Amino acid sequence: MARLTGKTALVTGSGTGIGLSVATRFAAEGARVVIADRDPAAASAAVAAIGEAARAVTVDISAEDQVAAAFDAVAAEGWAPDVVVANAGVQLFGQDAKIADLDLAVWRRTIDINLTGTFLTVKHAIRTMLPRGGGSVILTGSPTGVNGEGQDFTAYSASKAGIHGLARTAAAAYATDGIRVNTVVPAYTETSLVSTISDDPASRAAIVSRIPMGRAGTPADVEGIMVFLASDDAAFATGALFAVDGGMTTL
Ligand SMILES: NC(=O)c1ccc[n+]([C@@H]2O[C@H](COP(=O)([O-])OP(=O)(O)OC[C@H]3O[C@@H](n4cnc5c(N)ncnc54)[C@H](O)[C@@H]3O)[C@@H](O)[C@H]2O)c1
Repeated sequence: MARLTGKTALVTGSGTGIGLSVATRFAAEGARVVIADRDPAAASAAVAAIGEAARAVTVDISAEDQVAAAFDAVAAEGWAPDVVVANAGVQLFGQDAKIADLDLAVWRRTIDINLTGTFLTVKHAIRTMLPRGGGSVILTGSPTGVNGEGQDFTAYSASKAGIHGLARTAAAAYATDGIRVNTVVPAYTETSLVSTISDDPASRAAIVSRIPMGRAGTPADVEGIMVFLASDDAAFATGALFAVDGGMTTL
């Protein structure tokens, strides 16, 4: 259980949900972890729970000045990351809609955070890693960005498909610089992000029926693949999509 000893990881959106689970596991595997979230209270609680191997930085990933400042601040304190997980994201249930009904403002807010925010995180991660000789960048995709999983998920699906494409291009562009870029695709995972589904038995049953293993995912389900991709065991893995989704993307 010490596969990340000596590494520093920065995980966006790690105040709660999948990001918190991954950051906590990274620390258990010997890494130092930066909890990068727009919610300072959640980030502080995460640091308190993880202990001295963690520190927090408040950042809205959709604002480039904040993303650049966050990377500068952690580097100045000797916490420049070897591993960056671009995980923060939103899904605007009740606002995202079938395309003919979708407001431009909802489209823009989803793309600004999920796709532009991921772009900015990866951009500044790579700028930090290049002079240090490399690193591992991991993006959080979604089954709906592969298959399409809901008629109302127009903006969210497009943002995630964009992330999948961005990862492949960045992986090829920096493959000889020691920087690996991969995407993890979790299944429907029961966090606060998807409470609109999990609080409604019919909606929950419908989405679980799309998972061949017959159950919802948990944040812990995503930890193992993240540890692998962060570690040197994944030295030859780049540009790939790693589905940990109970088979959801095979349907
Ligand atoms: N839960 C699922 O079913 C599921 C499935 C596939 C992919 N994902 C993806 O996994 C990632 C994490 O999702 P989750 O379920 O843990 O969500 P969550 O809502 O539980 O946690 C998201 C975290 O991101 C933070 N965040 C949101 N916008 C931010 C911003 N602009 N800047 C910085 N931080 C921000 C939030 O404060 C929160 O701490 C997202 O990218 C999501 O799209 C989730």
